[in-house]
Amino acid sequence: MYSHTFYFAFAAVVSALSQKSLPTCREVEIPLTVSVPRFIVNITVQDNWDAAALTFTLTRRDSGSAADPIPIAGMTSDPVDSNFTIGATLCGTGGTTLVLTHGIIESKRYWRPNFSGAERYSLVDAAMAAGYSVLSYDRIGVGSSSIVDALWDAQFQVEVAVLDSLIAYLRSTANAAKIVLVGHSYGSYISAASASHVDIDALVLTGFSGSLSYFGPFVAGAGFRVAKIQNPRRWGHLDPGYLISSDLYAETYAYFAAPSFDHRIADWAHNFGSEPFASAELPSLLATTVEFEAIAAPVLVLQGQFDLSACGGNCVGVLNDTKALFTGAKVIETIDSLPAGHNLNLHYVAPRAFEIMFDFLKRQGK
Ligand SMILES: *[C@@H]1O[C@H](CO)[C@@H](O)[C@H](O)[C@H]1NC(C)=O
Ligand SMILES: *[C@@H]1O[C@H](CO)[C@@H](O)[C@H](O)[C@H]1NC(C)=O
Ligand SMILES: *[C@@H]1O[C@H](CO)[C@@H](O)[C@H](O)[C@H]1NC(C)=O
Ligand SMILES: *[C@@H]1O[C@H](CO)[C@@H](O)[C@H](O)[C@H]1NC(C)=O
Repeated sequence: MYSHTFYFAFAAVVSALSQKSLPTCREVEIPLTVSVPRFIVNITVQDNWDAAALTFTLTRRDSGSAADPIPIAGMTSDPVDSNFTIGATLCGTGGTTLVLTHGIIESKRYWRPNFSGAERYSLVDAAMAAGYSVLSYDRIGVGSSSIVDALWDAQFQVEVAVLDSLIAYLRSTANAAKIVLVGHSYGSYISAASASHVDIDALVLTGFSGSLSYFGPFVAGAGFRVAKIQNPRRWGHLDPGYLISSDLYAETYAYFAAPSFDHRIADWAHNFGSEPFASAELPSLLATTVEFEAIAAPVLVLQGQFDLSACGGNCVGVLNDTKALFTGAKVIETIDSLPAGHNLNLHYVAPRAFEIMFDFLKRQGK
């Protein structure tokens, strides 16, 4: 930790001297320790037959009831200590810092697509241009972060503890005066859970309605496959509990709404932006109660109207119930009208979505 503190102080000085106006980004590795209990996840995923069976369990009409319980057999009585290394992109030199948590079948690349012509879709660059610092990171088990066990480590409450630690880290070593959590999809649940017990300055949720009622079409439609079998070149090193979508068009069904996106970005998202997710992640989320009412910070729920997993393909009307979850928030605003599907930032409307987000933050004094 001490050597990192020094590195960050030093990097901040160098960048302040050499670049007066343009903020810069750098890849960082952040070591951290978390200590939380673990669920005993009662799943076996070795091959695509198992992936199909798990999909069926999670999408059955009576999923979550006594007839088809969430596949969790209990929880450890004691916290489990783990050391992880988080791979992140850190941009800017502090002040108000946006912390971006991506969704499943995704990575931190979601926040900064990098094919030629993709600049308009980069929240990272838009936020820097608006004067914010940004940390985007890969969840444990994803991309540049520690490779972890898909059942034992990559669980919702562990990922919330990781975000809690990143917030502390940004405050202590990266001059973060204010923290804004920005989530997408599963990352919105992680961000909301952190915001329910850590003091932060604002919360922006995308790909989110707070309801898991519309998970079925998403889970079934994505066509989960074992990642190491699906693409051994990219994911042969992962354990078979890591899952990915069956193909470009299944992923497009889950994440994009025609005609509001460029096919090239769906192609990029599938072939470059996507990373597998761990099979314990959804069951551990389903087994956790997120205390939305305990969130005090201002909240913006910013939605593509045609979000499949959050809203069953149409958010109009659904977000009234979302609003009602945040009874403790200083401010709660919802937007349900942007012409986009689940991956809001990867639709043509992205620059407008970013403006709405920054306008909200400015109005909250952030
Ligand atoms: C684990 O799941 C199997 C079926 O998939 C079930 O028979 C068994 O009772 C479960 N174990 C526990 C401890 O819940
Ligand atoms: C985590 O790292 C600390 C410091 O290096 C070490 O003392 C501890 O044993 C590690 N814990 C685990 C669970 O590996
Ligand atoms: C985009 O980023 C990935 C991963 O960092 C890299 O492998 C790829 O070469 C980049 N593509 C372009 C066009 O810069
Ligand atoms: C949602 O709230 C708006 C404004 O308060 C109201 O006009 C609309 O009828 C509500 N829709 C549903 C489905 O409850």
